[in-house]
Amino acid sequence: PLPAAYTLPFVVPPVAVPVSTTGDTDVYEVHELERTLPVLPGLATPLWTYAGSFPGPTIVSTVGRRTVVRHTNELPVPVVVHLHGGHVPAGDDGFPTDALLPVGSGPVTYGAGVTAGGGTAPGSGAAHLGPSGQRAGGGNDAGLPAGALGVLADPAARVASGTRDYVMPPQPRAATLWYHDHWMGATGRAMWRGLMGVHLVLDPAEDALGLPTGERDLPVLLCDRAFGADGTLTYPVAGPMTAPGHAMATPFMDGVLGDVVLVNGVPWPRHEVAGARHRLRLLNGSNARGWSLALDPPPPGGGGLVQVGSDGGLLPRPLPRDTIRLAPGERCDVVVDFARYRPGTRVQLVNRAGQGRTRQVMQFVVGARVADPSRVPSTLASGPAHDPRSAVVHRSLAFERWGGAGGTWTINGEAFAPDRPLARPVLGQLEVWHLASDVSHPVHLHLEQFEVLSRGRAGPGPDDHGWKDTVSLRAGEEVAIAVRFTDYAGRFVVHCHNAEHEDMGMMATFVTG
Ligand code: C2O
Ligand code: CU
Repeated sequence: PLPAAYTLPFVVPPVAVPVSTTGDTDVYEVHELERTLPVLPGLATPLWTYAGSFPGPTIVSTVGRRTVVRHTNELPVPVVVHLHGGHVPAGDDGFPTDALLPVGSGPVTYGAGVTAGGGTAPGSGAAHLGPSGQRAGGGNDAGLPAGALGVLADPAARVASGTRDYVMPPQPRAATLWYHDHWMGATGRAMWRGLMGVHLVLDPAEDALGLPTGERDLPVLLCDRAFGADGTLTYPVAGPMTAPGHAMATPFMDGVLGDVVLVNGVPWPRHEVAGARHRLRLLNGSNARGWSLALDPPPPGGGGLVQVGSDGGLLPRPLPRDTIRLAPGERCDVVVDFARYRPGTRVQLVNRAGQGRTRQVMQFVVGARVADPSRVPSTLASGPAHDPRSAVVHRSLAFERWGGAGGTWTINGEAFAPDRPLARPVLGQLEVWHLASDVSHPVHLHLEQFEVLSRGRAGPGPDDHGWKDTVSLRAGEEVAIAVRFTDYAGRFVVHCHNAEHEDMGMMATFVTG
């Protein structure tokens, strides 16, 4: 029994409190924990959580300060933590084979038996990563052979056991980032089961602009899920929930969709808001669902979603929008002035790309007009301004399905191989990447924010402005981006952020130096 839309209260995820703060560093501690939470009223949903909540606690960094997040993995599977949108050295970026094994896994010799998927190479019998198959309970766990996984040894992986620190140097600018699991071949399942949270980077200079703050600055993390009758999440994994494995390839080539819309982990919530400006930090944490978000009714005169920021921070100028498309991984910061509505109006945030229940997202109930000290200045921040004529290197990346039925998702015809770099960008040089696609693929680049130069023959589309780390390629489209990798030498990934496409191989390594 699903709750009726707009009956449950909107919640803001808990904000993490640092365990220590020194001159230039804030240290947080997060344990990956199994937790059973009442996501649907009256039912119990077993989840994999960061620190016991879904979404995980919001981590807050301040520009100019270092953030250390000490993760302890108490789940029965390896994890990899990635700060999506962060500017982070390779060793702390969550490369997909840099696994953090469960507490008690003991010392590990990687490459000599442990496979990238976290299982054991055939015949080696070397590593036991968890009690396989004993804690299923997670839905459509059909017990299919975990064969199609593409098990790869990666001798270069930096594997840790139990606890490790993820060190994030000061970030370049304020932004709405997020963190989520990135374990190779099993990211879709791990995110579906709950491993995601918001990571805000704040900046006193941004605070001085006067945008809405406090209870009028809200993270809005969207995702969709499907549940069994008993409240367990269903995810069509090939093999037991604790074994390495991604969605069964053939029936889920397009990715896994759910019929329940969750906003910060709550199905179709309702939020009573004062008649004043609110900042909504929209974040698409879905595995495969794209959203097309609009206010219904729109405020008189339209343009009710005033975009102030995108993936990597503020835009140069605010942009009034009616509809915002958000592909998996993308963020959009908007300001909505509820004083433009009559008190008592019920304003839905709707998803024009959805059908039936997935057309509904959440509802705002507009209260009385109140004093509102906030403002949206006409100049916000400096955006990217790369001159593509000074690009030293052009590269082409084709995001395509190869091999027909039984085939897989690839970049330039290759499925992910950690040790086979697709590119070796030189730090400091401007590059232009030409991204081409067969069907829709949200393309995400680690390490650096980029600038969208063009979409087909046209300039950037309405969802492409500002600093971007994820760009939505639509069927048959070619998008050009400009990027300058800086600061950190090492290996990173570029991939499709449809989590099932990523798990099936639509990911490539690049090595900066
Ligand atoms: Cu949000 Cu490589 O991921
Ligand atoms: Cu894709």
